[in-house]
Amino acid sequence: MSLNYKGQNLFIDNIQVKGIARKNVTPFYLYSYKKIKDNFETFCNYFKNVNPLVCFSVKSNSNVSILTELGKLGSGADVVSEGELLKALKAKINPKKIVFSGVGKTDSELRLAIKKRVLLINVESESEALLINKISKKMNRVTSIGIRLNPNVDAKTLSKISTGKLDSKFGLLSTNLLKFCKSSRYLKNIKISAISVHIGSQITSVAPYKRTLNAIKKIIKLSKINFDYIDLGGGFGIQYKKKDKKIDIKNYSVLVRKFQKETNCKIIFEPGRYIVGNTGSLISKIVFIKKNGNKYFVILDAGMNDFMRPALYNAKHEIISVSKSKKRINGNIEFVGPICESTDTFLKYKNFPFIKEGEYVTITNVGAYGSTLSSNYNTRPLASEIIIKKGNIKNNSKKTKDC
Ligand code: LLP
Repeated sequence: MSLNYKGQNLFIDNIQVKGIARKNVTPFYLYSYKKIKDNFETFCNYFKNVNPLVCFSVKSNSNVSILTELGKLGSGADVVSEGELLKALKAKINPKKIVFSGVGKTDSELRLAIKKRVLLINVESESEALLINKISKKMNRVTSIGIRLNPNVDAKTLSKISTGKLDSKFGLLSTNLLKFCKSSRYLKNIKISAISVHIGSQITSVAPYKRTLNAIKKIIKLSKINFDYIDLGGGFGIQYKKKDKKIDIKNYSVLVRKFQKETNCKIIFEPGRYIVGNTGSLISKIVFIKKNGNKYFVILDAGMNDFMRPALYNAKHEIISVSKSKKRINGNIEFVGPICESTDTFLKYKNFPFIKEGEYVTITNVGAYGSTLSSNYNTRPLASEIIIKKGNIKNNSKKTKDC
């Protein structure tokens, strides 16, 4: 996390959060550029022997200023829609560092990706490959594609964010993939350049990744194709709480290096959460506090429309005070939002530092799948996004979904 207390006051990169909160409409997302840079560099360092292309997964955070900064650090982009592709291009990310993933790309999305000559379109069905071939033929192009393998590996993560098992909609099972490699030889306007995989998100163990590498090795051997790239996807888990299990990326990097030597391919990664998850907070004002039965409800001005993960996945994101009182309230305390749904609840505590109406709290580690999952539900405006960079405060109000 990029937050720390000095005395009773919460700071982000040496700037007092309360000062920022008072000058901006709450709720708002607050990111530390320094932390994003640190995370990106740490990730690249783990894999420096592999020299991969790191394509930041835009679905985790599509803020154009953040994408621009990541682009400057050398990142490419993993995109899944026309909107994400346009944002990556706006952030001046070179199309030759962009991979286009997704199970249901439309005609117009494919047309744009082909026109912009992205590095790879990772296809997930034979029909998609045929469509890319047809569009490319009309445009007089040969388009490089990756084929997404469904390796039938259990990523041992939440079932709702697991994507590599037999019964999931993603990728092609190995037998179908091999069949397709054979039958596609007559398609002159596509080139199969890569195998791609992505087995799930918030993965905290190396074992499923190891199984996936083995599954890819088998495919390479059986297909007899010399792939230029192997796109190993993302999924690296982070610690939402101190006691959460930490993924041993060092150990994984050793496996990937060995794999690369054996296969002689350029490696691509698509991390999202690992780069931005712990770099963002959602700053919210306490609207009211009331007691129902034996519980205090702390009603925030942030709701499930601003931050969906607790409602969607029952995800636990710690809440901390912006100005921490030395006194504590004991009893059942539940932080909730203003939306007319009982699932609009964030977290429950048995005790909490004393708080009052009108004060600010922070929902932590919301940098990934926070703002990007937000909506206008209840016809509420979207929360703005503020980035702290070298002591400067940059407010990026979103225009696209504002009401
Ligand atoms: N590549 C592909 C093809 C993906 O589908 C994803 C995420 C990633 C890369 C990046 O995964 P990451 O490194 O961030 O784990 N909304 C959920 C997470 C959904 C992930 C979807 N795919 C959440 O809030 O936990």
